[in-house]
Amino acid sequence: MNKSSLSVPLDSSPLPLDDSSDRVSPVILWHKKTRMAAVESKRAKLWGGRFVGSTDPVMEAFNASISYDKKMWKEDIQGSVAYAKALLKANLLTETECNNLITGLEEVEKEWEAGTFSIQPGDEDIHTANERRLKEIVGEVGGKIHTGRSRNDQVAVDMKLWLRGHLVDISSHLVNFIQVLLERAENEKEILMPGYTHLQRAQPIRWSHWLLSHVWPAVHDLERLTGLYLRVNVCPLGSGALAGNPFNIDRQSLAEDLGFEEATENSLQAVSDRDFVVEYLFWASLLSSHLSRLAEDLILYSTSEFGFVKLHDAYATGSSLMPQKKNPDSLELVRGKAGTLTGNLCGFMMVMKGLPSTYNKDLQEDKLKLFETAEVLAGVLQVMAGTVQTLKVNADACRRALSEEMLSTDVAYYLVKKGMPFRSAHEKAGEVVKLSESLHCSFSSLPLSELVKISPLFTEDISSVWNFEHSVEQYQADGGTALKSVNNQITRARKFLTNFSLA
Ligand code: ARG
Repeated sequence: MNKSSLSVPLDSSPLPLDDSSDRVSPVILWHKKTRMAAVESKRAKLWGGRFVGSTDPVMEAFNASISYDKKMWKEDIQGSVAYAKALLKANLLTETECNNLITGLEEVEKEWEAGTFSIQPGDEDIHTANERRLKEIVGEVGGKIHTGRSRNDQVAVDMKLWLRGHLVDISSHLVNFIQVLLERAENEKEILMPGYTHLQRAQPIRWSHWLLSHVWPAVHDLERLTGLYLRVNVCPLGSGALAGNPFNIDRQSLAEDLGFEEATENSLQAVSDRDFVVEYLFWASLLSSHLSRLAEDLILYSTSEFGFVKLHDAYATGSSLMPQKKNPDSLELVRGKAGTLTGNLCGFMMVMKGLPSTYNKDLQEDKLKLFETAEVLAGVLQVMAGTVQTLKVNADACRRALSEEMLSTDVAYYLVKKGMPFRSAHEKAGEVVKLSESLHCSFSSLPLSELVKISPLFTEDISSVWNFEHSVEQYQADGGTALKSVNNQITRARKFLTNFSLA
């Protein structure tokens, strides 16, 4: 492509660069301003040395990541402070120079904290912006901070530091969500409801057992987070642009200084690695998919047709047209966000697939996905915890939804316990279902005289089977819906939470 069609030909500009004249048309003024900004930004570029002319303004905006990577201002400064100390240790800075740099960096940090940091044209990304400001504050010596460092290892370390902090925050939201489920499971053990397969009534279960069925995936998500954290917690700083660090930087102590467990093994890999982002995006997608399934259950249970739960007004909305409506928007959004997050995962996998070795600018896309996912996930977890904590469960409606044909399996188990092989017992129980349908009679009202015609093993004690508590209490084996197992699950999940720690 013809370069001049894209770039602003600064050096051959026939236009005066001062805009004091009021005879100049607004269009020309606009051109002048754009050029002046371009001149400014060329002056400020970290890589300006070999370039002639300036970057096309559209390209400038296209290339910049400052609007979103400024989120990592703190981590960028943290990395630079540690790097200054490493440079001192390697005798590349004097004690005074190092102190000047650190004081300057602290100054920059204060500006971000106070909201007074002013982003300038040419501040392509957070690394460029912080270094530009550092040099303004400390002067020439500011140029030493980047000795042997590249934005390639810098951005990788910034992201890992940022993600590490986020994982700690998100884990506490996840722990809180699990605690909310456990609290309900503990307090509402007596409530029985239908368990479903294929959304058809299947067998009676405890409401707590259903709640716990959503606890365990979340517990596994926490377990997975521990593994992910370990892989995030490896320091890439000191890898340079790609080939490594030529200044004898002590990478192990640099890693330690930044709270990392260890330093990365290979500089080429370290600057190109975004597996930790992919893994986080997958982790977030899976967790949000778990939450979307809980949301879906609750959306169904909150319909008038089920009526098992009623959402608190704080987590529902109304209709602008139908005054009677109370919509489960919180849950629908949780369900929808699972799609958005999985889209981020797939989108970023597509960015990564087939990239050549080491750093390529494609990698800059990582932050858009990472930050969006992190923000959405924090919202999802908090909204879900609040929705579950505040909803009301209608124990009577749950009980009313239990119908006696849900005890058909129990009839088969009754016969099995009297010695009949399960296959024949299943057959006989089927005949009991048929009998109840043909007599238009519920199970518990079937005369024993009719039942014994199906099998002589039926005796008076069949009446104990017509009882939903009795039904759920059969499932005593670990993992079942009997009280004992529900209690065990609560104890085990609580123990997991007590022992859980990321760092
Ligand atoms: N803003 C860049 C990113 O996020 C920083 C690294 C730039 N490195 C480079 N060689 N252009 O990926």
